[in-house]
Amino acid sequence: MKFTSALGALGASSLLLSGVGAIELDINSPDSIKKAAKSLSINLRQYYTGDRVGDTPGNLPDPYYWWECGAMFNAFIDYWYYTGDDSYNKITAQAMEHQIGDYSAFMPANQTKTLGNDDQAFWGMAAMSAAENKLPDLGNGKPSWLSLAQAVFNTQQRRWDNTKCGGGLKWQIFTFNNGYNYKNTISNGCFFNIAARLYKYLGNETYSEWAEKAWEWQLSVGLMTEDYHYYDGTDDNKNCSDINKIQWTYNAGVHMAGAAAMWNATQNELWKGRLTGIIEAAGVFFNDKVMIEVACENNGKCDVDQRSFKAYLSRWMGYTAIVAPWTRPMIDPLLKTSAQAAAKQCIGGPNQTSCGLRWVDNGKNDGSFGVGEQMAGMEIVQNLLYLSAPGPATQKAGGISVSNPNAGADAPDTPVTFNSITTGDKAGASILTLLVLVAILVGAWWMVS
Ligand SMILES: *[C@@H]1O[C@H](CO)[C@@H](O)[C@H](O)[C@H]1NC(C)=O
Ligand SMILES: *[C@@H]1O[C@H](CO)[C@@H](O)[C@H](O)[C@H]1NC(C)=O
Ligand SMILES: *[C@@H]1O[C@H](CO)[C@@H](O)[C@H](O)[C@H]1NC(C)=O
Ligand SMILES: *[C@@H]1O[C@H](CO)[C@@H](O)[C@H](O)[C@H]1NC(C)=O
Ligand SMILES: *[C@@H]1O[C@H](CO)[C@@H](O)[C@H](O)[C@H]1NC(C)=O
Repeated sequence: MKFTSALGALGASSLLLSGVGAIELDINSPDSIKKAAKSLSINLRQYYTGDRVGDTPGNLPDPYYWWECGAMFNAFIDYWYYTGDDSYNKITAQAMEHQIGDYSAFMPANQTKTLGNDDQAFWGMAAMSAAENKLPDLGNGKPSWLSLAQAVFNTQQRRWDNTKCGGGLKWQIFTFNNGYNYKNTISNGCFFNIAARLYKYLGNETYSEWAEKAWEWQLSVGLMTEDYHYYDGTDDNKNCSDINKIQWTYNAGVHMAGAAAMWNATQNELWKGRLTGIIEAAGVFFNDKVMIEVACENNGKCDVDQRSFKAYLSRWMGYTAIVAPWTRPMIDPLLKTSAQAAAKQCIGGPNQTSCGLRWVDNGKNDGSFGVGEQMAGMEIVQNLLYLSAPGPATQKAGGISVSNPNAGADAPDTPVTFNSITTGDKAGASILTLLVLVAILVGAWWMVS
């Protein structure tokens, strides 16, 4: 062990000495940015095995959950959009088609045991990006990208729960999953994000009304503060009176992009003020302009999911800068400095293109490799190209994906009964969820103390 890692270190340092940095990034050169994004994407792609014979399209191997695979295909859709390189379009279309599920709403039966509103929404947001970026619809009678996003919106809107806390979406979709009593910010934030982007795309006010409603509700219970900080979630058995105050990059990001879409569609001062507030409050996630997952990076406690969160803040900062151009003076320096810092440490692994988790250590690669770390590295780099992107299409401006306002209408909220899940599976899922909850509680303790 020691011997090989010493060799590895030797290899890395001799590369550095000879000046052959693996990822060379000139943040002012679109060609250089594209080359760097390509190297990072090749590395990310090698984690995915779902396109192999006998494997399941749309799944990543353990330890990655299904939702992260949806998030990864969103990253590949944006990669194509920003760079023009369509290397991953085929596996993306194949994966998304396979995961559409019985009700065409990204609720595949295989995922029922762990399917949360947030998990469903990460696939829904990938479909929304496909529609916005004009990825051609699947055709052949398959649902359009836009209709898949609409189906996620429609099914979630029906799950809006007024029985406790004055409203809100629960984390879990099914009563038998642990976490059913948790109302969390990412589930409500994804719903807000999809509603806002559907409003921008279609102009139908049903969507803007729900975006406003999700915003107001989160503010009313304190998942979001008056000064635009976003906390993790709250127990609806206590009527949402206790708030778990951990702050994650993706909660700020998912609201930033939604608020940017709302501003773009309305151009009113209300959304301008809100968006400005979110960007300013997101300052807690930057150290000298370099992005950091403050809740878990410094103590080394980021789990597999959390190691991907910076990818989404990066993605949504790029989106924001495109659709709300007046935010660029605030966002651009953060994007540039973070991309430079991230790329500098993406020097690990066999091809010296593996990104570690931390970007704040001045080029030191921390050896933490995985889909999340790699996707975050790729996203922060490719989003530098926002300046040359035409921006998300709308129905009236270039959009080609077909609308279906009634998508998802036939999806029941509980398509699989409790009994059809075996005891073994149920126990497995409960233990996993319990571990997650314990991790959250432990995290909460040091975060607030
Ligand atoms: C390294 O590069 C080779 C050849 O291009 C490729 O097959 C392999 O997947 C890459 N590995 C990683 C970890 O990037
Ligand atoms: C569900 O699981 C089965 C068995 O692993 C697999 O064959 C099928 O492709 C999966 N379906 C989806 C939508 O993932
Ligand atoms: C529960 O919370 C909601 C929203 O904050 C509030 O309007 C309602 O009065 C609360 N109900 C009780 C019984 O405390
Ligand atoms: C709204 O977003 C589009 C891209 O979707 C962009 O072309 C347009 O300039 C934006 N509108 C404003 C007022 O900035
Ligand atoms: C607006 O969206 C809602 C919700 O999907 C739908 O019921 C309604 O028919 C739509 N209105 C129009 C004019 O498309």
